[in-house]
This record gives sequence, C-alpha cells and structure tokens, in this order.
Amino acid sequence: AILPVVLAGGSGTRLWPLSREHKPKQFLPLVGPQTMLQQTILRLDGLNCRTPFVICNEQHRFLAAEQLRQIDQGEASILLEPMGRNTAPAIALAALQAIAQGDDPLLLVLAADHVIADVPVFHQAIMRARVLALNDHLVTFGIVPDRAETGYGYIERGSPVADGWRVARFVEKPDAQQAAEYLAAGRYYWNSGMFLFKASRYLAELEQHRPDMLAACKAALADAVRDLDFIRIGADAFGQCPSDSIDYAVMEHTQDAVMITLDAGWNDLGAWAALGDVLDDDGNGNSLHGDVLMDGVSDSLIHAESRLVAAVGIQGLVIVETKDAVLVAGKEHVQNVKRIVDQLKDSG
Ligand code: GDD
Ligand code: MG
Repeated sequence: AILPVVLAGGSGTRLWPLSREHKPKQFLPLVGPQTMLQQTILRLDGLNCRTPFVICNEQHRFLAAEQLRQIDQGEASILLEPMGRNTAPAIALAALQAIAQGDDPLLLVLAADHVIADVPVFHQAIMRARVLALNDHLVTFGIVPDRAETGYGYIERGSPVADGWRVARFVEKPDAQQAAEYLAAGRYYWNSGMFLFKASRYLAELEQHRPDMLAACKAALADAVRDLDFIRIGADAFGQCPSDSIDYAVMEHTQDAVMITLDAGWNDLGAWAALGDVLDDDGNGNSLHGDVLMDGVSDSLIHAESRLVAAVGIQGLVIVETKDAVLVAGKEHVQNVKRIVDQLKDSG
C-alpha cells in the first residue's frame, strides 16, 4: 500500500502575523475546523494508505503529535529534523526510514498546507499515478495554470505515457518573463508539490544527482534516536547536509519524471491572497473572519483574531489583526510579507 509522507517543516512566513515561528501555518485551522496538517491526512480517507510519516522540525513535535492524536492518527511516525534542510533531505530521511522498516513502499509525498476541494478527483489521480510509480517513474501532479505565478515549479508536458505524460522539462520557480512565456505556450503545468514514487527510486535519483545529500541523510538517520513516539534525526550529521528542495535537487534533473494532470480545486495556501480565494465570499469579494464591521469595502480579506476590526471605503486590501501584530497590505503585494518577517528576524 501507499505510504503518505507529509512534509510539515516549512515556516509559512508569508502568512504572518497569523503564521508564527512557534506555530506555522500547517498547524493552524486556516480553512475549516481542522488544521492544515489534519486536513492533509484526513483527505486520504478511503485510499487505503498506510499509517503516515510526518516530518517536521523538532520544535513542533508536541503540536504535531497532539494534532495527529486528535484525528486518531496517534500511530503515525513523526520524524524530527533538528534544523530545516528543505524538502529533498526531508524526503530522503522518510525514504531511508521506510526501507529500514523492511520493504520498498510507494511514497506519496504531500505538502501540509494545500487545499484540495474535490477529494474524489484527487483520489482518482493518485490511483492513476500508482500504476506509473509501480513502473519506476517519478510521478508529479500537474495543475493547469491560470496566471504567470513565479512561486511555483513549471512542468513542460512531453509525449503521452499510460494515463499521463512524460515530463519534457521541469523548471522550478522561473522568473516573471519565463513564467509568462510558459503560460502562453499552453503545454506547461504547475507542479502541485505532491509526488508519488518508490522509496528506492527516489534514493537512486538522489545518489545520482546529490550523493552528498544522500550520504548526509544516511549518517543522520544512523544517528537517530527513538524518543517517546518520535524519531529524532541526528543533529551533527544532519547539520552537515546541504539544503535544497526536491524540485531543484531531483525534479529538474531526472530523466524519469511523468505527470498526471490534476483538476481538483488545488490551492497552495502560499500567501494571504490565496487564502482569500478559498474562503467564502460575502458577495463583494470580501473574505471575513472574526469580529469585523465594514462599509463600502470590496475585494478585501479581513481577519480579526482578538479585537473588533472596522474598515471603511477600501478595496483590495488584506488586514490581519492578532493580539500583538497587525498587517495591512495591498493584495497585489502580499508575497512581500516575508520581507517584513526578515526585518523582524534582523532586528532580533
Ligand atoms: N520536513 C520539512 N523540512 N518540510 C519542509 C521543509 C523542511 O525543511 N521545508 C518546507 N517543507 C514543507 C512545507 O511545510 C510545505 O508543506 C512543503 O514542504 C513545500 O514547501 P514550500 O516551502 O511550501 O515549497 P514551495 O511552495 O515554495 O514550492 C513547492 O510547492 C509548490 C506548490 O505549492 C515546489 O514543489 C514547487 O515546485 C510547487 O509548485
Ligand atoms: Mg508552498
């Protein structure tokens, strides 16, 4: 059966001030009553998967454990990274751990911060991907793009294979001009950031393209200790591991990637505007949360946590109120919220 590997180690800075270092967005209930992590796992219900692996920073171990218990996934294995080294090493640790447990499962790599509206269609895509992954391909899930987004990876569709397409080219986070060209060309898809492949297949790619990374991950897992329900990765060895995403480290180089198209209302809750897109609309393009009063407001997202927020005569703004910080941003500029977080870090 398929082994879900949930990547939950990101920092989610673009959703500041709701997403914080001690509680990044994957641990928040941004859409509905469950947290993003919980929804990621609950969405697999009916697929007959194995008990998942969740991999996150050790700082968040109790958050992760508690949220898994709440959805009856207390048996899940939680791998703890002493520091973030991005997704390529995180997936390598999961693959090595899976193989150490005795077999070579298909890993379904999932981000912990996606929204997928149409779960049955998502399940069908995974079942189609399964056939390709069992044939030793690395399967990606491609989304038809509707804008020249630069925060995503782009997949150029090649020749057809079984239920999918060969990946002719994979370009992670192109610049604005390239992204516009890809959008116009028509045969490009967004990489959804989910993958399906045999554990051994991924490790073989890493061996080929980033042997330094694989060696560091092997050493770090050899040093791992079990502590309560956690698997704590060795800090010295993992500290030596280079940092890179699966997209740059493997997907841009592999010859064996294939793509299944996914049309399931996928949304990566990357920044505030994306959250506005998936929340309910009041009829004037506003998404509201909490105690909000307004007059003459359109196309805005207003989120009040602890106080009354009133807005008059505004358009296209994101306003997020929390106990100790308030964000006011133009919708077009919400990607740059991470610069504020950088400034906060610099000022200590
Ligand atoms: N365990 C662990 N460790 N998880 C991590 C780490 C890490 O060091 N860094 C990030 N993650 C998790 C995040 O929490 C998220 O769930 C997932 O890995 C993806 O990381 P992001 O940082 O959100 O990646 P991205 O959005 O910039 O880009 C990826 O996703 C896009 C679609 O959402 C890429 O795969 C793009 O190609 C893709 O288009
Ligand atoms: Mg993301």
